[in-house]
Parts: sequence; structure tokens; C-alpha cells
Amino acid sequence: MGEKYTVDGDIPPWTRLVDFLREKAKLCGTKVVCREAGCGICTVVITRPDLEHEGRYKTYSVPSCQTLLYACDGWSIESVENLGDRFTGYHSLQKALHGFTGTQCGYCSPGMIMHMYGQIQNGPLTMSQVERSLDGNLCRCTGYRPILDAFKSFAVDADQVLKNKLTDIERQ
Ligand code: FES
Ligand code: FES
Repeated sequence: MGEKYTVDGDIPPWTRLVDFLREKAKLCGTKVVCREAGCGICTVVITRPDLEHEGRYKTYSVPSCQTLLYACDGWSIESVENLGDRFTGYHSLQKALHGFTGTQCGYCSPGMIMHMYGQIQNGPLTMSQVERSLDGNLCRCTGYRPILDAFKSFAVDADQVLKNKLTDIERQ
């Protein structure tokens, strides 16, 4: 499914993953704004060997503006393009963010989605964990409540109103 990229010596050692994704791989779903790990908009999900447990891998979200391309050797990188689109169908997180009206201009949305996608790779979260985990993702439009409600609807302790709304969205 994924595409393998080989980097040659023409790419300078200070190149960030976000720039490679956008400019070389032409995967522009990953946005970039602050370039200092302050807004979360460039978030992607990586899977890399777990250095503490031989033969095992770790999956989690990272700000691609702070990830040096050459550090990614042997890693698997998922950007928002891998989750879903209007041709292949949307991931349930994407459907929920839309269904809860958690996106307006949409610029922060890929980063929000990828951050939450990375979080749930390591097991379900509680509502409080969802709220705390999103403190590195900024949105200038929505006021955060609909974004939090969308993602809290997946929490193990989600309240029934959120669960019902998620069920309705998934049926559409
Ligand atoms: S561009 Fe803002 S965190 Fe990467
Ligand atoms: S929807 Fe516009 S920045 Fe979040």
C-alpha cells in the first residue's frame, strides 16, 4: 500500500520531513505554519523500531516540522492522505470531525486528525486524556469544543450523548 522513498545526496541534511512530504512526495495534506512544534498542524504518524525492545515497533504522532528527514531512515510515515479521502471513503475520525462541525477553514484539521490517529494506535483513551493530548494542536476557528466533542466520542468513558451522535454520523 505504502510507497517507498529513497533519498539521494542532493537533499541537504537539515531538510525537515514536512518539506520532503510537501515538496518532493507532493503530499500536501500535511500543512506547515510555525515550524517550531507550536501549532501541531504538521503532525504525521510514524512507526519505527523500538530501541528498547528488539524486534518491536512504536507508533506515535510527531510534528514533521521538527523531524529531520535523515532521521526517518527505515521508518514508516503515515500522512493524512493515508487515512481516507472522497474517492476511497473517509476514516471514522475524519467523519466524526466533520459530523461534529469540528472543521471550518479546515487548515488545522489534518494535524488534529493525525494527532488523534497516532494516539489511538496505542489503545483507547479516556475523555480527559483526549482533552489533555490535544493541547499542542491549535485551531483559530472553531473554539475547540466541537473538535474535542468529536474525538471524545471515541473515548472509553464517552458520555451517551456523544456516543449517540457518533453512531448517527457513522450511519450516514
Ligand atoms: S508547523 Fe507548527 S508544529 Fe509544525
Ligand atoms: S478549522 Fe480553521 S484553524 Fe481550525
